[in-house]
Amino acid sequence: MSHTIVTIVGSLRKESFSLKIANALAKLAPASLKLDVTTLEGISFFNQDLEANPPADWLAFREKLQKSNGVLFITPEYNRSIPGVLKNAIDVASRPYGKSSFLGKPVGIVSNSPGALGGVSAAKHLQNILPGIAGPILGQPEIYLNGVGDAFDDKGQLTKEAVQKVLQQYIAAFAAFIENQNK
Ligand SMILES: Cc1cc2nc3c(=O)[nH]c(=O)nc-3n(C[C@H](O)[C@H](O)[C@H](O)COP(=O)(O)O)c2cc1C
Repeated sequence: MSHTIVTIVGSLRKESFSLKIANALAKLAPASLKLDVTTLEGISFFNQDLEANPPADWLAFREKLQKSNGVLFITPEYNRSIPGVLKNAIDVASRPYGKSSFLGKPVGIVSNSPGALGGVSAAKHLQNILPGIAGPILGQPEIYLNGVGDAFDDKGQLTKEAVQKVLQQYIAAFAAFIENQNK
């Protein structure tokens, strides 16, 4: 049986490395996983007042998460944390109170950066944010991808072998984790 994983891309940028990594992971994933690469374009700003009559984009995002077998975050690092657009989407999905759409969903976190530190602070911030509203987070292997700036060709295909190898290992471990959590 194939498990659907909502793969949330934490950047809106057209040429986003996070998006390219999500697409690469979707290709590397074993047959047991279907990665639904999801960008956050069009998710309205969270405003608790709107909860009485939630925007259609919130409802669609929440429903997609609820129907999934797990969630994979592919996040860049902005100023040593996650981008605001990603925090907004998490806030949207975490409500109404007690009814988080992430509840019970196993989670993976893949941070990345063209810089040397691989977005590790962003990943650590996600590890702080999620435990109260989501299911278990895959702890090992950890993955903080650095040097992604020269990892793709001009068609967006992953060409850097070292990155490919790490992604392959990660998605295999994540597939086993998902299998286990959805038993
Ligand atoms: C507002 C802003 C803040 C950033 N802060 C960091 C940072 O703290 N650490 C880091 O490694 N890169 C930082 N960067 C560089 C991003 O890693 C780089 O722009 C990356 O390409 C963004 O991800 P994307 O390619 O998925 O859009 C920052 C970029 C922006 C635009």
